[in-house]
Amino acid sequence: MKEVVLNHPLITHKLSILRDKRTGTKEFRELVGEIAVLLCYEALKDAKLEDTTINTPLEEYKTKCINEDNYAFVPILRAGMSMIDGVLPVVPNAKIGHIGLYRNEETLEPVEYYYKMPKNIKNREVLVLDPMLATGGSAIATINRLKQDGVKKIKFLCVIAAPEGLNALKKAHKDVQIYCASVDRQLNDIGYILPGLGDAGDRVYGTK
Ligand code: PRP
Ligand code: URA
Repeated sequence: MKEVVLNHPLITHKLSILRDKRTGTKEFRELVGEIAVLLCYEALKDAKLEDTTINTPLEEYKTKCINEDNYAFVPILRAGMSMIDGVLPVVPNAKIGHIGLYRNEETLEPVEYYYKMPKNIKNREVLVLDPMLATGGSAIATINRLKQDGVKKIKFLCVIAAPEGLNALKKAHKDVQIYCASVDRQLNDIGYILPGLGDAGDRVYGTK
C-alpha cells in the first residue's frame, strides 16, 4: 500500500515552524495537534456512513452518520500523546488506548513499559499515532501487539517519516495504511531523522 503524504501549503508552512529549533514547547504542541487534525481527516476519508433519520427544525431528513464507537486512537507514549489534542475533537467518542515504548538508545530497539487498550479493541478501527517514524521499530512493535489482540483494521498516522521506517513498516505490515505530513531524507547514524525536528518527546514535554 502506498503511503499517503499530505501535500498542502498549510502543512508545508506548519512543518517549517515545527522543525525550527527556535520553536518553543507551547507552539510545538499546538502545531503537532493542528497537523494531526489534517492527518485524521485524510485517514477517515473512507469512513463508513450509516443511514439515520433526523428532524431539522423544518422537516424529517434521511441522512448518514459515522458510528464513532467503531474507532480507537492509540498514541505511542510519550510523543504520540501530542497528537491526541488534535484528533479527539474530530472523533470525540472514539476510545483511547495507550502503549508506552521507548527506544533503547544503543540498539534503537523499542522497549515496552505500558499497554492498556479499551474493551472490544478487536472490533474497532485503530488509528495509531506517533509524530515520528524513524527506524519503524516502535510502530511495528505497536502494530504487532494490536494484532495479537485481534485488531484487524489499523492505520498509522505520523508527522514525519524516514524512508527507512516507511519501508520497514510497509514490509512488516502490508495491510496498514500510513499517513504522514512529510517523508524526510534519511536517518543519521544514531537513528534521528534528517532534516527532521529533533527528539519529538523532548520538544513536546521540554525535557531537554
Ligand atoms: C520516538 C518517537 C517514536 C520513536 C520512533 O520516541 O516518538 O515513538 O522514537 O523511532 P523508531 O521508529 O526508530 O522506533 P522515543 O523512543 O524517543 O520515546 P519518547 O516518545 O518517550 O521520547
Ligand atoms: N524519534 C524522534 O523523536 N526523532 C527522531 O528524529 C527519531 C526518532
